[in-house]
Amino acid sequence: SRVVKLAVIPGDGIGPEVVAEAEKVLDAVTAGSAVTFDKTRFSLGAARYFETGDTLTDADLDAIRAHDAILLGAVGGQPGDPRLKDANIERGLLLKLRFELDHYVNLRPSKLYPAFGGPLANPGEIDFVVVREGTEGPYVGNGGAIRRGTPHEVANETSVNTAFGVERVVRYAFGLAERRRQKLTLVHKTNVLVHAGGMWKRIVDEVAREHPDVAVDYLHVDAATIFLVTNPGRFDVIVTDNLFGDILTDLAGAVTGGIGLAASGNINPEAAFPSMFEPVHGSAPDIAGQQKADPTAAILSVALLLDHLGLQDEAAAVTRAVESDIAQRGTTARTTAAVGDAIVARLQA
Ligand code: NAD
Ligand code: IPM
Ligand code: MN
Repeated sequence: SRVVKLAVIPGDGIGPEVVAEAEKVLDAVTAGSAVTFDKTRFSLGAARYFETGDTLTDADLDAIRAHDAILLGAVGGQPGDPRLKDANIERGLLLKLRFELDHYVNLRPSKLYPAFGGPLANPGEIDFVVVREGTEGPYVGNGGAIRRGTPHEVANETSVNTAFGVERVVRYAFGLAERRRQKLTLVHKTNVLVHAGGMWKRIVDEVAREHPDVAVDYLHVDAATIFLVTNPGRFDVIVTDNLFGDILTDLAGAVTGGIGLAASGNINPEAAFPSMFEPVHGSAPDIAGQQKADPTAAILSVALLLDHLGLQDEAAAVTRAVESDIAQRGTTARTTAAVGDAIVARLQA
């Protein structure tokens, strides 16, 4: 039988709470099936940093690389915690994983479950995927500051966009659009960011010629936020850079019923490295440790993981169980564990 080596990184805050439920669901859906998940737990995040001063060592990275896939909860300490000093767990751990494992496709689907509604009065059908570039843009971190602490301080963050990096993610987005409703929207800010925006637009136009059946349009990022609220049904595949994609996907989560439902995959399509699946949300220090977090985003991330590994039946079973839980959930608050248990029960029903 097939064995999948899975690295599990629960992380900080609500990360361990939601990952526990995601693991319950993964265990349940694979129980008695032809595939076994051989899990290795990695204690990484703020707690590890406070203990050892390390965020992600070369040894950690080598060990993680030896896995077939990664399931991550969330990382990041409580903002303002003095023990964090200058440490940046987000850069040193999460972004380091995305960069080192070449997760150039940050895949973030958004779907409105009709029974659930969401905050919009007339949402219509919402079912789109943001293909967020994952290894470039302003996230690269090659900025710098001079004259720190003086009135003449200068702080720069440079957005890095390579033709190679843009073309590969754009090609992935077109491929996805082909398999969906053949609509692709480039989101950028070409009216102001003329160099990077100009290159993104040019590459999209070039690749579009190879996909005459895909309808392509373009929106400036500010206008895109309008349409995400007023007419989200217009979107099928959105392709965008790392920072715009970050912002749009929190908004997309909110519009489709809450950040607690939004799942993501950090994907290396060539499978040169393990891909990583995680909720879109963060460590939510405001509700951590209280069993208040919705684990649905982490559970749907397991569905993305299963799908990525070619386990389509298992992925579909998890999605169905989640959809029926969402359809039936009332207005009374449930604990994190109760949501996980309810989804497991639906899987087994
Ligand atoms: P956040 O996503 O952690 O929280 C934003 C709001 O959403 C909070 O009110 C929180 O309680 C709520 N929320 C988040 N997830 C929820 C869930 N599953 N169920 C119910 N409510 C939920 O964003 P933030 O407050 O900006 O960031 C907190 C920390 O997490 C920071 O250190 C940040 O850098 C980090 N972060 C990490 C990741 C990640 O690991 N992938 C992602 C985003 C933020
Ligand atoms: C996300 C997060 C991360 C990002 C942070 C924590 C580095 O917000 O996964 O959306 O900006 O990509
Ligand atoms: Mn984000």
